[in-house]
Amino acid sequence: MVIKVEINDEVMDAQLGERVLAVARRNASHIGFYCDGNGLCTMCECKVLSGADQLNEPTETEHTWLTEERMAEGYRLGCQMSLRGAGSVRVLTRAEEMRRQLDAVLSPPPGTTVSENMRPLLANIAAVNWQHIGRWPANLLTSMSRLGLFTVLWPVTDLNHLLDDTVRITRRLLAVSDGSGAPEERPAASDPA
Ligand code: FES
Repeated sequence: MVIKVEINDEVMDAQLGERVLAVARRNASHIGFYCDGNGLCTMCECKVLSGADQLNEPTETEHTWLTEERMAEGYRLGCQMSLRGAGSVRVLTRAEEMRRQLDAVLSPPPGTTVSENMRPLLANIAAVNWQHIGRWPANLLTSMSRLGLFTVLWPVTDLNHLLDDTVRITRRLLAVSDGSGAPEERPAASDPA
């Protein structure tokens, strides 16, 4: 069953049960995934703007890595979130959220100042880092026991796929960031894995 999900203000086709990270990667949307979706890097963190009830419950991995404060604000991991309903879901990835926050600092919108735009970016950076440091090393040890040492040391399960998606996402991102016009076409919806 094909459903719709909105990631970084773009509507995308998705399959029921599909993970948000997979949808974002297939559509070259701006998201991080250093560990290739193994629940180890938190680079895929996203803020659920609406439709949380259309998603699965937060997993043990998310409780391991994300603070309760952060989760209460709507943050989850894209590689752990799966689409469980056909209702509307809107998500903003942390990578894109920070890009926009940085953009507001470098090019303040009319009526705003650099210093006031700096605050949300610094708060976000602090929260992300505290989330890791404050839980260290319990987060890593818990993940090691769950996944096994080998997966923690070498989490990338498909290097070619990871590199290919990284290049596609970067190319689209550069097209957006340099103001050269519409971003490159998204690839056709296929390979929902
Ligand atoms: S991709 Fe690394 S935690 Fe989700």
